[in-house]
Amino acid sequence: MRRTILVIGAKGMLGTDLMTVLRAGFPNDEVVGWDVGEIDIQQEEETVTKIEKLRPSVVVHLAAYTDVDGCEVDEERAFAINAEGTKHVAQAVSRCRAKMVYLSTDYVFDGNKREPYLESDAPHPLNVYGRSKLQGEHYVQAWAEEALIIRAQWLYGRYGKNFVTSILRQATEKKALSIVDDQTGSPTYTFDLAKAISVLIQFDARGIFHVANSGLCTWYAFGQMVLRLSGMDKVRVIPISSEELGRPAVRPSYSVFDCQKLKRETGLALRHWPEAVRDYLTIQGLTHVRPEHQEKQGEK
Ligand SMILES: NC(=O)c1ccc[n+]([C@@H]2O[C@H](COP(=O)([O-])OP(=O)(O)OC[C@H]3O[C@@H](n4cnc5c(N)ncnc54)[C@H](OP(=O)(O)O)[C@@H]3O)[C@@H](O)[C@H]2O)c1
Repeated sequence: MRRTILVIGAKGMLGTDLMTVLRAGFPNDEVVGWDVGEIDIQQEEETVTKIEKLRPSVVVHLAAYTDVDGCEVDEERAFAINAEGTKHVAQAVSRCRAKMVYLSTDYVFDGNKREPYLESDAPHPLNVYGRSKLQGEHYVQAWAEEALIIRAQWLYGRYGKNFVTSILRQATEKKALSIVDDQTGSPTYTFDLAKAISVLIQFDARGIFHVANSGLCTWYAFGQMVLRLSGMDKVRVIPISSEELGRPAVRPSYSVFDCQKLKRETGLALRHWPEAVRDYLTIQGLTHVRPEHQEKQGEK
């Protein structure tokens, strides 16, 4: 039977890749994408009525207020979208007896563990964004039976502003960049994450899963890698502390995931993060062929 898979937040950075991946992975199903133009998840009645009318079998809920510093200064908006909005989606999912998939974050953790976080580790968010997303997790667990909660981190992709685009833009404007060197995580390519979400849906996985590209680094090392791969490594990079940067929201200093559960239950392990960054830059036409490489090719 032809099912309907609904993606909410379909025009966001992850959502755009996920729509492509789900349409390719579920050719016999209808994949419907909604974003702010089609639904405002803050509106309870509108959300429940619209989803119920569509009668989806699976709802992948990505819509969120994702500006971490913005959430810190507008807590009301953060909770209205990330927590209450998620509750409205979960209520609708429950009424349709559909499968719920919810995207959460590494910022539910405080970073004090200093070794990779398991799905069973106790969350303790340090900022408003993390607290609002964790409240979303609780609503999903309360309303949507057998839901799948996928925690992701440090995303970059082709369809949104992100750390990579910001570093490359700044590198064209400045001679030196200051990048935070006291936060460690795993940069994750939205296309790789989208494939993992598709696989988890195919396996009808339930419960919480941590998903990230493998390996770890600081934002400083991530920035250096981006500049090196795009041939902009003449730009000076200065390591600084989070305190020096002075952002409104406190971030965990360590939020690396243990992704063994994903491997155990689906056989999937995401590739090493620099490999994914290289792919992303190549697709964007931003990788640099080094002069020595060109010379060697010329010698042949
Ligand atoms: N980015 C990361 O590093 C990261 C890390 C961990 C987890 N996540 C989670 O992964 C998911 C996708 O992230 P992303 O980076 O792809 O986010 P994104 O690009 O900001 O996409 C989120 C989408 O949700 C839409 N949206 C916002 N408020 C809405 C509302 N009230 N009703 C309906 N749609 C609304 C946004 O529209 P507007 O743009 O018009 O507001 C946007 O299109 C989110 O749940 C996020 O919390 C992200």
